[in-house]
Amino acid sequence: RFDSHDSVWLFGYGSLIFKADFPFIERRPASIKGWSRRFWQGSHDHRGTEAAPGRVVTLVPDEGATCHGMAYLVTPEEFAHLDHREKNGYLRLATEISFDDGGALEGIVYIATIDNAAFLGPSSEREIARQIATAHGPSGPNVDYLLALAHALRALGKHDAHVFDIERHLGEFHDPQR
Ligand code: BEZ
Repeated sequence: RFDSHDSVWLFGYGSLIFKADFPFIERRPASIKGWSRRFWQGSHDHRGTEAAPGRVVTLVPDEGATCHGMAYLVTPEEFAHLDHREKNGYLRLATEISFDDGGALEGIVYIATIDNAAFLGPSSEREIARQIATAHGPSGPNVDYLLALAHALRALGKHDAHVFDIERHLGEFHDPQR
């Protein structure tokens, strides 16, 4: 139970991996089981617009799969702050977090499901690359998000076929704004 201590472990698999711009007590490379990272969530407010939504990651149930990311230990106060900032329609889920160097405990992860108004669902990696290559929002080009995520996963020594496939397809598309 995450309320049994005076700190909370939060599992990050998207922007939380490459943009840890919040105070944390400790961070450890970690993973969760039974989920896969997918660029299935639309972004019309951060990495795209209403007219040309971008795509960001969410988690989809995937039996036997492991999703690698970064776990952050935060104070309840910081958790409340992040919860307000990141939740934005994402569901808060209690999950077991396994640390790369051993051990596991219960923590929190944010997911967007089909019930989220911005959920886009599946598309081919090539089609997703096309959409990402041309989307821009207040937080910047969608491609920066994808490249930062791919870079962070490589730095962790992790492979993610979906993310790296999309990255590989990027070169096929020209961004008129660059
Ligand atoms: C993540 O990196 O885990 C994340 C970031 C924002 C919203 C949901 C999840």
